[in-house]
Amino acid sequence: MEFKNIIFEKNDKIATISINRPKALNALNSETLKELDCVVDMIAEDEGVYAVILTGVGEKAFVAGADITEMKDMSVAEGRKFGILGNKVFRKIDLLEKPIIAAVNGFALGGGCELSMACDIRIASTSAKFGQPEVGLGITPGFGGTQRLARIAGMAVAKELIFTGRIIKAEEALRVGLVNKVVEPDKVMEEAVSFANTIAAQAPIAVKYCKAAINRGMQCDIETALMYESEVFGECFATEDQKEGMTAFVERREKSFKNK
Ligand code: CAA
Repeated sequence: MEFKNIIFEKNDKIATISINRPKALNALNSETLKELDCVVDMIAEDEGVYAVILTGVGEKAFVAGADITEMKDMSVAEGRKFGILGNKVFRKIDLLEKPIIAAVNGFALGGGCELSMACDIRIASTSAKFGQPEVGLGITPGFGGTQRLARIAGMAVAKELIFTGRIIKAEEALRVGLVNKVVEPDKVMEEAVSFANTIAAQAPIAVKYCKAAINRGMQCDIETALMYESEVFGECFATEDQKEGMTAFVERREKSFKNK
């Protein structure tokens, strides 16, 4: 399938999505969001994809936010519709049953920071910058920033960054727990691929259940969360890969998972 604002690549078990509007620093307009929605659906249905990498084309930006040119003259109804579209697509990324790694190669501001936070893991370049500068534009974060930043980095960090619009460097993002790892700019993709390959070598159904258990569990009370954990733990024993993983351990041989 051909996209205008997105590049989709598949290499063995790893799919890569690159937001491709470098002239606008990969800003997310409605068209790009709809393409992202479509590509996530495609990946969800592809049993051969075990892990996903999301990045931005060019050296300057991951994504510099939602498209300000498109938003500038929006009415209340249009603004709401745009927010709902972004939230729907980012939630789809949350719920994607495959791990997704953001390779943050530059600016991750507003909708860009929010997009990285919808991913499971963030690898940042030393030159990356994060922030939610929306209040400086007269708006609130609209693609999940008020919710995911607090959940990832805590309420105090979220309130500070969102109320002030302060842009932080990768090192600070690492310190507050917003990113998992910071590497030199020319190593970001390499590191993301290495993470993706390590994950793709594990039993994919188990990884899928882990993502669901962590994400769901963070939103509910501990009793319900632990019940869900027991449920998916039990379900693992219905898979061929559980038999394979444990048999290979006992027989001291290499395992070979089949996503079954
Ligand atoms: N929307 C639309 N266009 C954008 C954009 C955005 N978010 N960010 C950058 N661009 C465009 C610029 O308009 C410029 O286009 P032209 O060459 O046609 O003028 C091009 O990208 C390059 O940008 P700059 O010339 O500004 O580059 P710079 O190096 O001087 O500055 C920057 C880089 C600091 C990232 C700056 O571009 C910037 O501040 N961008 C906006 C960041 C922002 O406020 N993001 C939040 C948007 S609101 C949001 O995302 C809401 C939400 O939660 C859903």
